[in-house]
Amino acid sequence: MSDTHELGDLSDLGDGEMRVCSSIGTHGVVVCRVAGQLHALEDNCSHANTPLSQGRLSGTVLVCPLHGAGFDVTDGSESGPPAWKGVPCYAVTETDDGASIDLTPLGRDRPGDNFDVGGRPRTR
Ligand code: FES
Repeated sequence: MSDTHELGDLSDLGDGEMRVCSSIGTHGVVVCRVAGQLHALEDNCSHANTPLSQGRLSGTVLVCPLHGAGFDVTDGSESGPPAWKGVPCYAVTETDDGASIDLTPLGRDRPGDNFDVGGRPRTR
């Protein structure tokens, strides 16, 4: 079952730019355009609950403004400490009529996935 929300026209969002949609999901989402494609992450760092949208986007990595952990916008994975887990990543679809987001998490942090530090499977 999908949980789809309209994002409106994001055609003015350029490469390397971000936009916050604060009314979507628990913490809002940050939508990023990289190489022409839209990607979206939950707008909340997994380390200490800081809005990632206040950080900077460097290529496909969104860097947290507080302690510098990086998150890949294409899958939500963390680049390393101090974050020890990724953030939810969502599919964004863009058409001539606008963009929409499906809040079913993609990547490693899907419900039921069982990964821990460095992507190793949890054993307990
Ligand atoms: S709050 Fe994001 S790295 Fe610490």
